[in-house]
Amino acid sequence: MSMDRILSGNEYVLRPTQTIQSRTDVRGVITFVNRTLTEVSGYTREELLGAPHALLRHPQMPRSIYYVLWETIKAEREFYGYVNNRAKNGDNYWVITYVAPHYAPDKVLDGFSSVRRAPLRERIPEWADIYAQLNRVEANYPRKEQCEAGRDWLGNYLHKRTRYTDLTQYVLSGL
Ligand SMILES: Cc1cc2nc3c(=O)[nH]c(=O)nc-3n(C[C@H](O)[C@H](O)[C@H](O)COP(=O)(O)O)c2cc1C
Repeated sequence: MSMDRILSGNEYVLRPTQTIQSRTDVRGVITFVNRTLTEVSGYTREELLGAPHALLRHPQMPRSIYYVLWETIKAEREFYGYVNNRAKNGDNYWVITYVAPHYAPDKVLDGFSSVRRAPLRERIPEWADIYAQLNRVEANYPRKEQCEAGRDWLGNYLHKRTRYTDLTQYVLSGL
């Protein structure tokens, strides 16, 4: 296991007043971070700027969630989701994330912006469970098929249990 994947087993719980902001170019390379992201993630501004957002990724997060995220924002729609991130020191921190297309003054898409806040604590076990199930689903497929298989499983899962098939719609319904 490489050093950037170490996990401490400790959870950092965001305060309700903390808002994490970042922005990327159209490829997902970080172009702006606010101070709260550096405080929570433990990375400096210099380490974050120019890096891919996957630097924040927790190894236990299913790949298909980011696939759904990218499918959504590339279609120039807004994404809401629960995300478990990994801080530099190996702590994990749960956020509710809003990711949206960002437009230049001439209305051309020039990247994406995200705002992350403390989620409702009581909703975290449900998402931890869904993501554990998604990891098991993905593990049954060759790497190239994992993201689509996970996305389809999630759509079916939500359809069976909720009034929604869309992840963002379901997340918004519980806020
Ligand atoms: C604006 C924006 C914010 C993002 N924020 C996060 C984040 O907080 N944590 C994360 O793991 N991925 C985030 N991503 C998704 C990453 O770009 C990436 O798809 C994900 O970490 C999975 O890594 P991989 O694509 O290398 O497998 C964000 C993407 C965008 C466009």
